[in-house]
Amino acid sequence: MFNCSDKAFGRSLSNLSDSRRGWKINLTLVTIIRKGILHFLDAERDVSIIKSSFKPGDTIHYVLDRRKTFTMSNTLHSLLPEVSPLKNKRYKTCAVVGNSGILLKSGCGKEIDNHDFVIRCNLAPLDEFTDDVGLRSDFTTMNPSVIQRVYGSLRNEMDKKRFILRLQQLNDSVLWIPAFMVKGGERHVEGVNNLILKHKLKLRTAYPSLRLIHAIRGYWLTNKIYIKRPSTGLLMYTMATRFCEEIHLYGFWPFPKDANGNPVKYHYYDTLKYHYYSSASPHRMPLEFKTLTALHSKGALKLTTSKCYL
Ligand SMILES: *[C@@H]1O[C@H](CO)[C@@H](O)[C@H](O)[C@H]1NC(C)=O
Ligand SMILES: *[C@@H]1O[C@H](CO)[C@@H](O)[C@H](O)[C@H]1NC(C)=O
Ligand SMILES: *[C@@H]1O[C@H](CO)[C@@H](O)[C@H](O)[C@H]1NC(C)=O
Ligand SMILES: *[C@@H]1O[C@H](CO)[C@@H](O)[C@H](O)[C@H]1NC(C)=O
Repeated sequence: MFNCSDKAFGRSLSNLSDSRRGWKINLTLVTIIRKGILHFLDAERDVSIIKSSFKPGDTIHYVLDRRKTFTMSNTLHSLLPEVSPLKNKRYKTCAVVGNSGILLKSGCGKEIDNHDFVIRCNLAPLDEFTDDVGLRSDFTTMNPSVIQRVYGSLRNEMDKKRFILRLQQLNDSVLWIPAFMVKGGERHVEGVNNLILKHKLKLRTAYPSLRLIHAIRGYWLTNKIYIKRPSTGLLMYTMATRFCEEIHLYGFWPFPKDANGNPVKYHYYDTLKYHYYSSASPHRMPLEFKTLTALHSKGALKLTTSKCYL
């Protein structure tokens, strides 16, 4: 067990920060991991369903609740990509940016923006935090629940305006919406899609395949990492192995305190609380983190939890 009250915890963490400087990639291992994951999914394909595979009116079963279904709308169908947004894409360096409060006062913004491809999670705000989190976004995830929680379900004009401004910041990068997980999100997704069309936003929408989450879970379970449902951060790392050589993770820290015992917010941008060890939580983030720490030590990825100095 890996937890904050453990004596070993503090020590292993100081090793992690120390090892940031001396860290070296092991490309042999990176290739082995990429091939292992390819047995379960091809992120180039599973990153999004595409237009030619569906038509309006098709029935889709929710990924995590197969008894329930919804019907593909004209709007959604018109926003499906013609080809995978990651088709034939290869990058030397990618950053996957989680949303932990560990990023606050990190000064990591410039370093993050220096990657060839930057992946961000859940449409996290950037404006007031650019010194610590950066601004560049090539791929941004957004759970439908964000619409309800942060944008008032897009019911009034102010919320709509705020939301459109945030989407405009994405320019023509990818907005990735897990739209088919559980019933309830579809009306939010429809609202988002309508706004994108109405305001002719240039961003490129993508909607993960129906098998992605199961395939990724399967990969980790086969490697004896007993997660329940992968967190968005772990999903993004796993997918990124397909098209990135060096993957650097920032803002991953599923603990209420840092190595010195100071409190760390769950999200750098709000006051949401999270029970990292609750059995009711769909994720097992501390276990995921322990796994990523081990991969860092072996040179498969680079995990930054300390401050950044360029
Ligand atoms: C954390 O570790 C301590 C000492 O090993 C243990 O007593 C405690 O129950 C653990 N807490 C959790 C939440 O696992
Ligand atoms: C951290 O480093 C110290 C000394 O360099 C070493 O003794 C210890 O085993 C390391 N701890 C972990 C968890 O790797
Ligand atoms: C890189 O990883 C491979 C596969 O795990 C391992 O055999 C090799 O010893 C590693 N190389 C270094 C320099 O650590
Ligand atoms: C969008 O484009 C503007 C102008 O080129 C640029 O300053 C900004 O960083 C871009 N935003 C993202 C998220 O890449």
